[in-house]
Amino acid sequence: MALEESKILENYFDEIAPNYELMNSLLSLNLDKIWRQRLLKETLKNHPIKVLDIACGTCDILRLFLSKQSGLEIFGLDLSFGMLNQGKLRDKKLNLIRGNGIHTPFSDDCFDAITIAFGFRNMPNYLDFLIEAKRILRPNGKLTILELTQPQNPLLRIGNTIYLKSVLPFISSFFGKNQEAYDYLARSIQAFPNQKEVLNLFSQAKFSKSSYSLNQFGITTQFVGIK
Ligand SMILES: C[S@@+](CC[C@H](N)C(=O)[O-])C[C@H]1O[C@@H](n2cnc3c(N)ncnc32)[C@H](O)[C@@H]1O
Repeated sequence: MALEESKILENYFDEIAPNYELMNSLLSLNLDKIWRQRLLKETLKNHPIKVLDIACGTCDILRLFLSKQSGLEIFGLDLSFGMLNQGKLRDKKLNLIRGNGIHTPFSDDCFDAITIAFGFRNMPNYLDFLIEAKRILRPNGKLTILELTQPQNPLLRIGNTIYLKSVLPFISSFFGKNQEAYDYLARSIQAFPNQKEVLNLFSQAKFSKSSYSLNQFGITTQFVGIK
């Protein structure tokens, strides 16, 4: 995806921001809550103190972190003012920064953990994102990525394609405002590299370890990289 497409994405997300959380729950049949909890659990295993959630959107993950562990120093970064504003409406005290995930304003080695849920797919360049995340993680710090992927089983893959091409546009046209944004969502999931290709990118970004685990047979995947 070219960098200028980030501008188009920013507009998409500004438009869908007010309905975003409702649409998320509907389109994922509420499974997104379970997947986010897994991401949280994985991140908190290492007892981080300073955490950054990139592409934080309406700040769901930030609120979850704060409800689970007190004393966390947590920051959210996102490209869309519309999404960040929805987050601020819920909690005025959140530390939010408007910015691009591939070029953040943070210094080297400053976070114990970085998370990104359903935002990696949107980055203008996946490798650039991983290199930037690694730069701002402290040594041994952990990056956890939750992303929509394609199931590996061929039958489930067909089912998922039907869902993305028929059910998703139908539901989103009924509830969502911006049809184009949801068309983009379906296209971007299908264009996303498979799990092994993503691990290859972690290696190219020079993470010392990386792994992945599937959620619901690969409808989503959680990737973990250690600096
Ligand atoms: C599908 S939403 C996910 C939001 C949130 N993480 C969640 O779990 O609900 C994707 C988010 O990525 C943000 N985004 C897209 N491109 C970005 C970029 N290059 N840098 C930072 N954020 C970006 C969008 O503005 C949007 O809020």
